Amino acid sequence: MKITINRKEYSVNEHELDRKLLWFLRDELGLVGTRYGCGAGLCGACTVLVDGQPYRSCITPIGAVADGQLVETVEGLGSKQKLHPVQRAFIEEQAPQCGWCMSGQMMMAVSLLNNNPTPTDTEIEEFMTQNYCRCGSYNRLRRAVKRASRY
Ligand code: FES
Ligand code: FES
Repeated sequence: MKITINRKEYSVNEHELDRKLLWFLRDELGLVGTRYGCGAGLCGACTVLVDGQPYRSCITPIGAVADGQLVETVEGLGSKQKLHPVQRAFIEEQAPQCGWCMSGQMMMAVSLLNNNPTPTDTEIEEFMTQNYCRCGSYNRLRRAVKRASRY
């Protein structure tokens, strides 16, 4: 089977279809921007986008996304030369503290803004608090998403 990640196609062996997407990304492809937190679908540190929707890759079997869906990780958002607007806004608002949750938070922000380009503060808070930030950076996260919505 084929799996498309950040616009590149990869082959997946049939016997790997039950393997969790997180470990395929990190261990096979070296895409270590997607983080491991709880491993139980609770914290959101491992969030990636599948056809633009947030998925918790620690509980998502590869087989569930190897059928023509487009997987996007934080590495696919932008480059050093050209940051994605969400990356720019997160830096400018100094959203990260320890940084552990931030790749998942950025993928959530991209998903929110794709579906709702001008969210209210309440809509941002409600959406973004689906992902935990142990450092409690929620106010800076809200400001960063708001800033990104203006770019
Ligand atoms: S590591 Fe996947 S939800 Fe926590
Ligand atoms: S910045 Fe530390 S967990 Fe969110």
